[in-house]
Amino acid sequence: MSLKLTHLRHIALKTPDPAALAAFYQDKWGLKIIAQDGGKFYLRGLGPENFILALEKAERRGIARLAFALQDRAAVDRAAGELAGQGVAIYRQPAELETPGGGYGLQMIDPEGRCIELSAEVSPADPSETWTAPVRPNKISHVVMNTADFEGITHFFTGTLGFRVSDWSERQMVFLRINTDHHSISFNRAPHASLNHVAYELPDMNEVMRGIGTLKGYGVSPMWGPGRHGPGNNVFCYFQDPAGYVCEYTAEVQKIDESTHQPEVWERVPEKMDRWGISGPPSPEARAAMAGEPDPGLKAFNAL
Ligand SMILES: [Fe+2]
Repeated sequence: MSLKLTHLRHIALKTPDPAALAAFYQDKWGLKIIAQDGGKFYLRGLGPENFILALEKAERRGIARLAFALQDRAAVDRAAGELAGQGVAIYRQPAELETPGGGYGLQMIDPEGRCIELSAEVSPADPSETWTAPVRPNKISHVVMNTADFEGITHFFTGTLGFRVSDWSERQMVFLRINTDHHSISFNRAPHASLNHVAYELPDMNEVMRGIGTLKGYGVSPMWGPGRHGPGNNVFCYFQDPAGYVCEYTAEVQKIDESTHQPEVWERVPEKMDRWGISGPPSPEARAAMAGEPDPGLKAFNAL
């Protein structure tokens, strides 16, 4: 099976107050609201993706959708056939998308209930449209998901969706790639499925530092960091948004050379979690925020 996902487009998150959360991500985090439709907000970064974060009104927090790109609409149709052939639950058959930028896509449900959108031909963001902010993230660098079925979900993402293993953090985390970025998604062994955090890419380490300073000016303190991770070698700093989700500024993520890269199993010791030795491991409060609460997603759909 070769779906050939090209990159991570966006994540859609549920929250009781999407307007307040959208204001945080625009006014403090550096994204720009490009569209608003009822209780839904769409925010772009500085990169070419039409939007990278969508916020939807719901009583409880949770992942509404995670979207990856395919090459073209023929690849979307091919993916629908291949996924259905493997018994994967297709939530929405290939169709025109009604989110900003349009395009053509399908939605499937992974074994833990996450809605995964695979899309093509989404119009890029308008490059002439700009905004000012002290730091402006380019794109979502990666998302980390908690999983109650570490082996099963790793098998699904590598075997069925075509992700490649970049590294392991012992048998606690697996880092998966679909392009030269060390990881677009990572899974963390946990008691339940939920969102661990979303990482936004800034141009370089200097911008991460300026981002930390900017948030400090708004009274938002880092939850973990700054530091430089072992797996992925990225500079990181984690914060908590007003909805309680953990968001990360990151930069300088390792680029993978397919011809030479060998996955490594990293020890989970403080000096490998932050190679600078500044931050050590995350605090119990940070770990609790990253654990979140159980998110069944659309798991019930799988059972239909
Ligand atoms: Fe991260």
